[in-house]
Amino acid sequence: MKKQWWKESVVYQIYPRSFKDSNGDGIGDIQGIISKLDYLKDLGIDVIWLSPVYKSPNDDNGYDISDYRDIMDEFGTMADWEELLAEIHKRGMKLMMDLVVNHTSDEHPWFIESRKSKDNPYRDYYIWRPGKEGKEPNNWESCFSGSAWEYDETTGEYYLHLFSKKQPDLNWENPKVRQEVYDMMKFWLDKGIDGFRMDVINFISKVPGLPDAPNPEGKKYVSGSRFFMNGPRIHEFLQEMNREVLSKYDVMTVGEMPGVTVEEAKLYTGEDRNEVNMVFQFEHVDLDSGPNGKWDLRPLKLRDLKESFTKWQKGLEGVGWNSLYLNNHDQPRMVSRFGNDQEYRVESAKMLATFLHMLQGTPYIYQGEEIGMTNVRFDSIDDYKDIETLNMYREKVMENDEDPQKVMEAIYAKGRDNARTPFQWDDSENAGFTTGTPWMKVNPNYKEINAKKAVEDPNSIYHYYRKLIQLRKQYPIVVYGSYDIILPEHEQIYAYTRTHKNEKLLVILNFSADQPIFELPKEITFTTKELLISNYDVNGEEAIEIFTLKPYEARVYLLK
Ligand code: NOJ
Repeated sequence: MKKQWWKESVVYQIYPRSFKDSNGDGIGDIQGIISKLDYLKDLGIDVIWLSPVYKSPNDDNGYDISDYRDIMDEFGTMADWEELLAEIHKRGMKLMMDLVVNHTSDEHPWFIESRKSKDNPYRDYYIWRPGKEGKEPNNWESCFSGSAWEYDETTGEYYLHLFSKKQPDLNWENPKVRQEVYDMMKFWLDKGIDGFRMDVINFISKVPGLPDAPNPEGKKYVSGSRFFMNGPRIHEFLQEMNREVLSKYDVMTVGEMPGVTVEEAKLYTGEDRNEVNMVFQFEHVDLDSGPNGKWDLRPLKLRDLKESFTKWQKGLEGVGWNSLYLNNHDQPRMVSRFGNDQEYRVESAKMLATFLHMLQGTPYIYQGEEIGMTNVRFDSIDDYKDIETLNMYREKVMENDEDPQKVMEAIYAKGRDNARTPFQWDDSENAGFTTGTPWMKVNPNYKEINAKKAVEDPNSIYHYYRKLIQLRKQYPIVVYGSYDIILPEHEQIYAYTRTHKNEKLLVILNFSADQPIFELPKEITFTTKELLISNYDVNGEEAIEIFTLKPYEARVYLLK
């Protein structure tokens, strides 16, 4: 396996709107981020992934971009951004920017031109089609509810938007569009950034003809994902992007790819294929969803989680590379979803962190995860801001008369705003996030859960993360060891080994509030053992052939 700096790195994701406000307007900003860089450096992270900071009307909090080469007013100026990059580099960290090029904002100058007339030079930058029998060109549903098509009066045609109607899809079949994107990428790379996280990048190649999706239940709109995820020209486009742009810089790339399988991920991340370094796959965050999608809640089974992670770990081993995450700005908080955010919040957050940071791949920490921030339950839908959540609520409650309380329960479990409440810096008003009125309410548990308290407490989740990150720097086995699951059938314990040269890491995790018995399989033998980290006080000399685990206990041993 080739040694690479991005395999040895730990990434920290910043969602700028919710991170730190410096000017009292209630919205996080770039100067706010700069003021917290020492906090991140102390944590030990290597790379910051910054969610979009470009000019945007904020229909989808910056994922709808109206100028790729300028900074959003609420966040600051280009001079602020230049200062941010310099301050990050000064501290020996790197910066990865978000690349959102499946779609633009409808307020982007290209789209403003495109909608003017059928023969406008920018018409073909987007995907326009005439209606079919007075209806939309096909039956695809938008990822944010309703049709994926919007009718435009001016020319009497529809444009495609896989997300909100203010996010028209770019037409990647048009070579001019691709060239514009590559030029824009070079603009940022030449400023000295260190990589890109690529938003829904496996959506850019659509099946020609944009056929109707099968609709056995006769629904109004259905997911057309099979016709735009991992489409026919996707590898060609990514290889072209790599040839024209990425290969000329020493940068890291991660493609966000809903619906990607291990077999496809081998093609996207294969070391000899020149596409991207790693992908964000979704399999493990779909395990608690039913057949009707993310709002259709299902309990998570540990066996499914083990099977899924093991498939990805073994599948990409020696071929490509995994990215490791349990939450981000689109997912609920990890401790609320996979752990226990009540009695065992601290223990389970540490256990989940151990799980992720000891796997093979590059770990991503989402802001607030390192202090164990939790999901939130606002009483009223009016306190929610996310377009996906609000559109879904409107469709289910206002249009389809579903029980509002049931819909709220789904939002409490899965809504994206769980991850977007302001960062909890201290126990002062608004958690120290802003001196003004925050754009979204703060989670009321900030007096208990905040960074100040975590930094002061040597036993906090925060200090546990620091230690995990240091282990990665200290022991190459954490980065380069091969993975094997043990006790695959166990319903509460997830245990695995990592093997490198003559050493083994043994990772033992209790995913439950019970006290199951761990039995070491006979084939794992060793002459010495060293306890590298644990989330309870453990006597390192204690025998490990058989013992009882405490609730959400985690231990990592180095065996020789
Ligand atoms: C994925 C992003 O992570 C999400 O926040 C956004 O809404 C969609 N892509 C559309 O850009």
